[in-house]
Amino acid sequence: MAYESALALSLTPYTAGEQPKIPNLIKLNTNENPYPPSPRVAEALTGLADSLRLYPDMEATALREAIAEVNGVCPEQVFCGNGSDEVLAFAFVAFFAGKTLAVPDITYSFYPVYAKLFGIALREIPLKADYTVDVPAMQAGCPIALANPNAPTGVRLPLDEVRVLAAHARAHDAVMLVDEAYAAFAEETALPLLEETDNVLIVRTFSKSHSLAGMRVGYAIGPERLISALRRVRDSFNSYPVDRLAQAAARAAILDTAYTDSAVRRVKEARDWTADALRAMGYPVLPSETNFLFVRADETDAAPVQQALRAKGILVRHFSAARLKPWLRITIGTAEQMRRVVEEMGRMR
Ligand SMILES: Cc1ncc(COP(=O)(O)O)c(C=O)c1O
Repeated sequence: MAYESALALSLTPYTAGEQPKIPNLIKLNTNENPYPPSPRVAEALTGLADSLRLYPDMEATALREAIAEVNGVCPEQVFCGNGSDEVLAFAFVAFFAGKTLAVPDITYSFYPVYAKLFGIALREIPLKADYTVDVPAMQAGCPIALANPNAPTGVRLPLDEVRVLAAHARAHDAVMLVDEAYAAFAEETALPLLEETDNVLIVRTFSKSHSLAGMRVGYAIGPERLISALRRVRDSFNSYPVDRLAQAAARAAILDTAYTDSAVRRVKEARDWTADALRAMGYPVLPSETNFLFVRADETDAAPVQQALRAKGILVRHFSAARLKPWLRITIGTAEQMRRVVEEMGRMR
């Protein structure tokens, strides 16, 4: 006899990067931002405690207006959720349930977890040898979900090729989801496609570029019809996913564009410096348009390198899947933290 449902017993849950409490640890394993959020966030949170007896605005109106303003769309094209993980979950139910979803074989590892939970068949299309998306092969299936830039590789598919995939999905009456968790660190986004087609949904997060991983806020931008479908799913699950503190914090953060631009610039500078330094030492590093680097740290298995770095107080992420094993995913920290990483990896060469 089992108390658990057959579904619960069949799940393979997502494995998040660890959040250890080790003093002075250089924590580069979950793609958090090394800088604090905008000072406007603390100001926006001041004095909100009394209001917490009331439920939040379920439509997160003020936050959606701010997101719309910054992205040049209208508020009706914006949906907010409890982290982009939740927005992705709602999108999987709204657009992929009962269908066969095409995803690259190496991508954000929550996609297979949601697919299993929501009964979605997956068609996993292998990335090419250089870890780029195989666009012709991806057109074997639809709908399509694409993390762009991809995780954990950091590599971005050019907009023209995203456009080809969106058109393929459109021809099959299907949605193309573009997960832009790292778009702020990239050279291009899929936003122009919203002017061209009605089947593209872009999902973003405040966790990386806006230093609010602890607040759990994500959003989608897309045509009103797709946004309405997300709302239907949300209201069948939890009508108030974004709390009052999160709405206020995220609004303050996204409106302080000068602060975000400066933090993102510093992260990109440290990223490019680190990539150059590691390549100069002979480590293959994929071209990253994110706030992390994917570094081939060993010929066969980088787990011992990860352990050696951990012993030196530097925590990075290793994945045990066959094609990922030789690699480490290293989040970009401050310039000083990245100097430490380069120094330690240089000693191991
Ligand atoms: C590609 C991708 N999408 C979504 C997320 C989830 O972000 P959030 O913190 O908004 O749930 C992550 C987090 O690492 C990610 O890498």
